[in-house]
Amino acid sequence: MPGIRGPSEYSQEPPRHPCLKINSKEPFNAEPPRPALISSYVTPVDFFYKRNHGPIPIVDDMERYSISITGLIDNPKQLFMKDIWNLPKYNVAATLQCAGNRRTAMSKTRTVKGVGWDVAAIGNAVWGGAKLADVLELVGIPKLTSVTPSGGKHVEFVSIDKCKEENGGSYKASIPLSQATNPVADVLVAYEMNGEPLNRDHGYPLRVVVPGVIGARSVKWLDSITIITEECQGFFMQRDYKMFPPSVNWENINWSSRRPQMDFPVQCAICSLEDVNIVNPGKITIKGYAVSGGGRGIERVDLSIDGGKTWVEATRYQKAGVPYIADDMSSDKWAWVFFEANVDIPESAEIVAKAVDIAANVQPENVESIWNLRGILNTSWHRVEVRVGHSNM
Ligand code: MTE
Repeated sequence: MPGIRGPSEYSQEPPRHPCLKINSKEPFNAEPPRPALISSYVTPVDFFYKRNHGPIPIVDDMERYSISITGLIDNPKQLFMKDIWNLPKYNVAATLQCAGNRRTAMSKTRTVKGVGWDVAAIGNAVWGGAKLADVLELVGIPKLTSVTPSGGKHVEFVSIDKCKEENGGSYKASIPLSQATNPVADVLVAYEMNGEPLNRDHGYPLRVVVPGVIGARSVKWLDSITIITEECQGFFMQRDYKMFPPSVNWENINWSSRRPQMDFPVQCAICSLEDVNIVNPGKITIKGYAVSGGGRGIERVDLSIDGGKTWVEATRYQKAGVPYIADDMSSDKWAWVFFEANVDIPESAEIVAKAVDIAANVQPENVESIWNLRGILNTSWHRVEVRVGHSNM
């Protein structure tokens, strides 16, 4: 492939921040410690979780790097970086969350298959790039199209990395054409993260960012875009990242019975505390993040210090000095909110957080009711234990 290649081994991986907790070394999967995650509303690139399925691609020659747009369209094209740079640039604050976030906690109920993650397989970045709707206009697909004259209904993104799940082939995923061509959906062909060119781990030189949707659809190291009739038939769309009911196990699973997961559900996690903490009696500050998929803002975050019997409402905020109102123009609709509350802890307690989005969707109380064999979308109430004693905190 011109200008970019996907290695088949791990000898040329990029440097990474030493604070990251490594959940798998090859491929590299890592997340920041909880407090680092909420140290800033815009997650620094170093602290942003890394979720890979193969070795990180290498760009040999940016001049030659291009993406092809083909499939069920009249004017297939090859686009170079300058073609993407020439389109209007948008900066979109969007939270990317891996569907496997909080998988480790789900696996404590019953074993699940997949990389273990604590609560930090999530991050909020300002992504800079062209809107996919504008890119698709270059090949003659007008805005707000749900089907092309030749029957194209989905937009497939194909990468250049080599993944064992694809038998050494590339990572790929698709989204509906109606979403891809809707400028309001803010789907980006991004070249920047927090004002800097994407780094290698996050998709340099071009990646897709699909706001409000599980991270698996935001394909990194873009190689081609194909307009297709059915959704992408790749492994990560058809045999992974689907939500099954608790009754389904590896003996009775029927992958084709479920749709690929797209929007993520309402989620929150406490990040100022670990699962078990020793604290001095008195006031403590509880802080964390809350986010919902599909552009649904966060209406409320409730906190309990008695395992969920009684609740208080936490304060929510995004940008300093701007009051957060879930569906206001000033709120970053694709981005998380932080929450905070000061509570008095007279004795050992289970602290619980749950978020409610603007559609009044609420996190489920127990992980058992949403357990699924791949361990995705653990959005159950987030619980941490505090034991009152003498600590150095
Ligand atoms: N794109 C490619 N090409 N290869 C991948 O392994 N992982 C996906 C997605 N895009 C992946 C990919 C998954 S599962 C997630 S959660 C996000 O990228 C993670 O993006 P990040 O590493 O930039 O945080």
